[in-house]
Amino acid sequence: MTTKVLVAYGTTNGSTAQIAEAVAEVLRKEDLTAEALPAGSVARVDPYDAVVVGGGLYAGRWHRDSRRFLRRHRRELARRPLWLFSSGPLDPSASERDIPPVPGLKRAMTRLDANGHVTFGGCLQEGAKGWVARMIIKNGKGGDFRDFARIEDWARTVADELVAKD
Ligand SMILES: Cc1cc2nc3c(=O)[nH]c(=O)nc-3n(C[C@H](O)[C@H](O)[C@H](O)COP(=O)(O)O)c2cc1C
Repeated sequence: MTTKVLVAYGTTNGSTAQIAEAVAEVLRKEDLTAEALPAGSVARVDPYDAVVVGGGLYAGRWHRDSRRFLRRHRRELARRPLWLFSSGPLDPSASERDIPPVPGLKRAMTRLDANGHVTFGGCLQEGAKGWVARMIIKNGKGGDFRDFARIEDWARTVADELVAKD
């Protein structure tokens, strides 16, 4: 039986969902079973052997759906290999250096004994929800700073660690 991995994500404007899909795609290429699903739509974690959870960053916090997911499924998550990712910075900083998890997420990582965390660049483009988002875009501070080569590399390290655990 192949290892079944859930990639759950919290998103407002869809860009974190695309990162989660890219992670799941790499895991499938590495011969694992993987599906990416919105964190709020996952009723149960026990059908999965391992979990990756991602969330967009909003006002210094991880996405609410992702935070709720960690809380709601904490018992099952603490017993499974777990990786986390954030996506946020609207500049190249995430590709240039390691950006640590926001404080609340760092505490959750310790509680759940997570294997790792990475911050990827974010994306904010025309059509994003909310007036703050529209102001950022209007002021020329939006853009797509996701580095899919880096995202895929990270997903391969997750796959390698999972295969090593088998
Ligand atoms: C209102 C607002 C607040 C944001 N706050 C942060 C932040 O605190 N830190 C950060 O790195 N990025 C921040 N961002 C950028 C988002 O994290 C980025 O656009 C991310 O890719 C959004 O993910 P989503 O498309 O999955 O919702 C913010 C964006 C908006 C619109």
